[in-house]
Amino acid sequence: MLIRGLSQLATPAGRGAPLRGKALSEVEVLEDAYILCDGDSIAAVGRMSDLGPLPGDVREIDGRGLCAIPGLVDCHTHAAFGGDRVEEFSLRAGGASYEELHARGGGILSTVRATRAAGEDGLRVAVERHRGWMRAHGTTTFEAKSGYGLDRDTELASLRAVRDAGGVPTWLGAHAVPPEFDGDADAYLDFALTEVLPDAARIAEAADVFLERGAFDSTQARRYLEACRDAGLALRLHGDQFTEQGAIPLAIELGARSVDHLEATGDAGVRALAASDVVSVLLPASALFLGRPMPPGRALVDAGAAVALATDFNPGSAFCESLPLVCSLAATQLKLSPAEALAACTVNAAHVLNRAERIGRLAPGYRADIVLLDAPDWRYLAYHLGGDLVAQVIVGGELR
Ligand code: NIG
Ligand code: FE
Repeated sequence: MLIRGLSQLATPAGRGAPLRGKALSEVEVLEDAYILCDGDSIAAVGRMSDLGPLPGDVREIDGRGLCAIPGLVDCHTHAAFGGDRVEEFSLRAGGASYEELHARGGGILSTVRATRAAGEDGLRVAVERHRGWMRAHGTTTFEAKSGYGLDRDTELASLRAVRDAGGVPTWLGAHAVPPEFDGDADAYLDFALTEVLPDAARIAEAADVFLERGAFDSTQARRYLEACRDAGLALRLHGDQFTEQGAIPLAIELGARSVDHLEATGDAGVRALAASDVVSVLLPASALFLGRPMPPGRALVDAGAAVALATDFNPGSAFCESLPLVCSLAATQLKLSPAEALAACTVNAAHVLNRAERIGRLAPGYRADIVLLDAPDWRYLAYHLGGDLVAQVIVGGELR
């Protein structure tokens, strides 16, 4: 397959991952460009003037007026859920706070009730539907967490639904304490680590924990993460969303892949992350949706941290599947350049998912995951706020 005559092709430069500092803004832009795919891989990219003779059986796509960027990678979603939280959203719009609703048994626990009721088939339908929404916004690789089942069957069904929809499953076994444990987080962890972890570890690639007041404390998070690490899972944390509770030092000590949220992170946390291999996953749609402070994106990049962007797509704190919108928020709220935003939701997000060797760039040997933007300049990705930008999505060399 040949995509010819593209207004621009834009890709993070180089081959390494994760990108930090100046390298995060090095985007290679080719004008009047082509992409040649062979099966599910990219064979060549270049300028039309350098395109050599091709074999006869090449399918051609007209790229005039379009810009190509790598397929977007959403490295943090909660796509496996039943029901919705539109009622709670309306209450929040009237002034109720997210943490108050959670403490009153609403919030995450109301989605736990709806997710348990959905059953395995209902969850499969939901994840596929959500995957379709994400793909329509240019996401070609998505991670999705369990964490709305919190019983053995529903957690495992969530992970299978994500895996079978082509997503990267993360076991968020420590998201909240389910009602049957009556607020006893330690007793719940006893159950989760003995009854669920052994099977979850066969399906999931990573484990995640919500380390926050009202959820799990750092002693409990450590216990959960150490057991998950020993079972072979990569580690991720929801940390510093509302308050700093030690998520960053714990993540660094345990060699976690990422700490995600960071809306409450102060200067010491920024410095610690910058000096570490832990990726800072920023979720500005969640901060916006909850009317909370934005994470210190500019400070993290300037300090040299490896930064990724994701939607946090979920029914409660970020009912948003659009990475282009997240790129707009990154530019307008976090003060990242469009180039930094692009790298953060391609190469660096792929690195969080341990896939940066094959995903996140438009270059020979990478998987043919390509988004064609209906725009004269690739930076419309961040510029066109909420725009209808995505003209075509190609996943593994197939038009979707
Ligand atoms: O990343 N903070 C914890 N978990 C999710 C929200 C889950 C929910 O509200 O349903 C988050 O924001
Ligand atoms: Fe989240």
